[in-house]
Amino acid sequence: MNDIATKRSSVLDRVLVLEMVRVTEAAAIAASSLIGRGDEKAADAAAVEAMRKAFDTLEIDGTVVIGEGERDEAPMLYIGEKVGGAPGTGPRIDIALDPLEGTTITAKAGPNALAVLAAAEQGCLLNAPDTYMDKLAIGPGYPEGIVSLNNSVTENVNALAEAKGVKPSEIIVCVLDRPRHAEIIAELRGLGCGIQLIPDGDVAGVIAVTNPDTTIDMYMGQGGAPEGVLAAAALRCVGGQFNGRLVFRNEDERARARKWGIEDFDRIYKLEDLAKGDCIFAATGVTSGSLLDGVKRLRGGTMTTESVVMRASSGTVRWIKGEHRIG
Ligand code: FBP
Repeated sequence: MNDIATKRSSVLDRVLVLEMVRVTEAAAIAASSLIGRGDEKAADAAAVEAMRKAFDTLEIDGTVVIGEGERDEAPMLYIGEKVGGAPGTGPRIDIALDPLEGTTITAKAGPNALAVLAAAEQGCLLNAPDTYMDKLAIGPGYPEGIVSLNNSVTENVNALAEAKGVKPSEIIVCVLDRPRHAEIIAELRGLGCGIQLIPDGDVAGVIAVTNPDTTIDMYMGQGGAPEGVLAAAALRCVGGQFNGRLVFRNEDERARARKWGIEDFDRIYKLEDLAKGDCIFAATGVTSGSLLDGVKRLRGGTMTTESVVMRASSGTVRWIKGEHRIG
């Protein structure tokens, strides 16, 4: 059981939690035929189409709240699209999804591409605009609030090191490898921290702080806001702390945020602000990484998948290995 008191949702009880994995499995399998083929768009399109179809098998009245973009930008799985096989009769749930988190990773056969979704009762997931988000995450077991986006990199590292009982130079931080993170990286280098630079895929990067096997203590830096909500849903289930602050590059991005009811542009969002109440997080590995093994095509016409599904109210985490017939 995680340390966040969460009321079990009867709406989500009616949803077969394990069935969510069918949806991420379908997307991952579809994208896997394009691993290492250098075509990001084709990989994404395959995952989107497969995920869209798989939703029809679920007895839900679902609404996409984080998806492939706005209606005029995306043919499928756009924000506001109804999904599920029981419109009007099934439990009403909101869904945040990314059929292929890590399109470039998939095209280049790199690590940590995922098919991922989060589901919650209506109104419980932040309708995050497609902007960047400053992110800061640490794993479970630390006093609440020891790190904050209001603090400097050095203050956060020192606070975490003290709580962990190690030197600041022993702290390992995961950061997206981007020029915009030059200052963060320089400050971390100055402290002697270990830095795991990832090429893409900050959903897995954030979740990595919850798994001691990764040795990653903290996640820092700017990535997509929708990915922030997905990662927050996972941390709601397994514990840990998260701060997210939307980053706006222009007036158009502010206007998008206003459209979703966001007025306070400097707000720091914590886990419950991004994914409140009971929620489910499901992911299937497309390529192997710190969270999951990727899809493997074996001789003899079978393939294997690895997925994880977690629920906030129970804190239960299920790891699911699938064996599928090809074709
Ligand atoms: P895509 O799958 O859409 O390519 O996103 C990958 C990703 O690395 C995310 O994990 C991350 O949040 C975001 O892109 C970072 O954006 P940018 O590539 O613009 O720095």
